[in-house]
Amino acid sequence: MNGFRLRELPWAVRVGLTLTVVTLAGGYFASLAYLNAHYAKKDEQPGLSMDDLVASFHGIQQPSPLKEAVFGEHGRTHAPLDAERALLEDWLQGQRIPEQYDEIADGQELAPADILDMRCVTCHQRNPDSEKLAAGDVSETPLDNWPDVKKVAFSREFLPVPSEILLVSTHTHAPSLALIALLTSALFWFSRAPRSWRGGLFAICTLGLVMDLSCMWLARIHPAFVPGIVMGGALFGLGLGAQWLGTVLELWLPRPRQP
Ligand code: HEC
Repeated sequence: MNGFRLRELPWAVRVGLTLTVVTLAGGYFASLAYLNAHYAKKDEQPGLSMDDLVASFHGIQQPSPLKEAVFGEHGRTHAPLDAERALLEDWLQGQRIPEQYDEIADGQELAPADILDMRCVTCHQRNPDSEKLAAGDVSETPLDNWPDVKKVAFSREFLPVPSEILLVSTHTHAPSLALIALLTSALFWFSRAPRSWRGGLFAICTLGLVMDLSCMWLARIHPAFVPGIVMGGALFGLGLGAQWLGTVLELWLPRPRQP
């Protein structure tokens, strides 16, 4: 049990090991910040969301929800006049959706925005009146102004990262991250932490890494694997972080008393 511990090393070596751990941790946070910045923009909405990751690793093909609604049953029910529906259909099939949103076309009396206001906004508004709320037919998709309409007016198509790029990424990340996990766990092995922790964190780390890297590929086949990328990455990060912290504590806490 009383094997070698990092705390026994000379002072200068402990400084060196501490700085090594700090550098590894710094590099790790830099790559998290990079990933956040890199993927957050993918779905054209601010912030990093699951949609960003699905778009990046699987791709998203989603027809315009507004178009689907207008052309479908929903449109026939709520905009029963053929002329109004035709106007909305022309607008949504055209190339100038933003410009024509509140523009009255030649020979028309209404702009698309007016029809949405008349036919749709009773249920599709940010602050629905209490009567509608009680009836349960309010929608969570407001349509009362362009910034809201814009979110559902367009079809979205995002291609996943090309497989050559994912291959390059895997070929650099797999070996380097595996070595970082190995080095981290090797250092932590020589700490005073209980044996089960030292072994367990190594296993969690490598399991997370394998899950993260393999789900990046499996997500191409099915988007259900995208959360696995996040979960794997989280296990890997937590495993590393806990071991880095444990290693630094081992290096600088007073020697444990000998029994
Ligand atoms: C009587 C209430 C009511 C009216 C009127 C109504 N809707 Fe809806 N609409 C709903 C409900 C309820 C849903 C489903 C719940 C949801 O998606 O938030 C919905 C869903 C939708 C969706 C899908 C939302 C999404 O994010 O996928 C669109 C688009 C839509 N409606 C457009 C329209 C348009 C265009 C009109 C007018 C022509 C209209 N609706 C009129 C109640 C209404």
